[in-house]
Amino acid sequence: MSITADNLVWKIGKRTVLDGVSLQAEPGRMLGLLGPNGSGKTSLLRLLAGLKTPSAGRITLDGRDIGTVGRRSLARRVAFVEQHATTNANLRVIDVVKLGRFPHRSMFSGWSAADDTAVEEALARAGMVEKRHDLWQSLSGGEKQRIHIARALAQSPQELILDEPTNHLDVQHQIGLLRLVASLPVTSVIALHDLNHAAMFCDHLIVLDHGRVAAAGTPEAVLTEELLRDVFHVSARVERSTHHGRPHIHYLA
Ligand SMILES: Nc1ncnc2c1ncn2[C@@H]1O[C@H](COP(=O)(O)OP(=O)(O)O)[C@@H](O)[C@H]1O
Ligand SMILES: [Mg+2]
Repeated sequence: MSITADNLVWKIGKRTVLDGVSLQAEPGRMLGLLGPNGSGKTSLLRLLAGLKTPSAGRITLDGRDIGTVGRRSLARRVAFVEQHATTNANLRVIDVVKLGRFPHRSMFSGWSAADDTAVEEALARAGMVEKRHDLWQSLSGGEKQRIHIARALAQSPQELILDEPTNHLDVQHQIGLLRLVASLPVTSVIALHDLNHAAMFCDHLIVLDHGRVAAAGTPEAVLTEELLRDVFHVSARVERSTHHGRPHIHYLA
């Protein structure tokens, strides 16, 4: 297992935001995190990225408690694309991607050939090589998200955590971005709103409801008509797609 969470609890003040959440992200696979607004997705991702400390329970990376890993080593291994990622508007694309190398640099070493290679590979993976000298602010929404992913990849992570990275993108760019994430040689944990997109691209899903795990498993096992009704409060019919075998949700008016 790459990332595991075991019985996580996260409280803020008197409120229990996450309550007994366990999960396993399998190496090289894409784990989709679903749930209504306010169900705890962002909180869970922030715990997995080591940005917050659980009130109880444990997170491990290859069996090691992340509390013992250290912030800098963690940043060399786990990259996080936050939901409202912002970037200094005056930078060029390549400089934004270079920021991803920060955890790998020491006070004493200059910019190295390894840093250049990581940045080049990240731009290529994200399909953004041609835009390298463009100004950040000139990019479209979809391109900005690709550069956020490129910056994360420049960290050379083994685990990539993404919080609703397709928000505000048109459908073509949503699909393009999910295809990109699915093609990456990393373990990914991705919060998504579109359940059909999750069904198409994720290997496994976990559904949160009021801070608890309502369902976990393959898309086929998780996305049932009962779950859609009980957790998402919608009437829907779920079919098995004829061309990829994944479930497909038809929402009923
Ligand atoms: N820093 C915080 N302070 C107070 N409440 C918070 C904080 N972070 C999250 N919450 C609450 O925890 C719940 C889960 O939020 P969040 O993890 O953002 O859910 P999601 O990403 O699924 O929409 C929400 O009710 C939210 O208001
Ligand atoms: Mg959120």
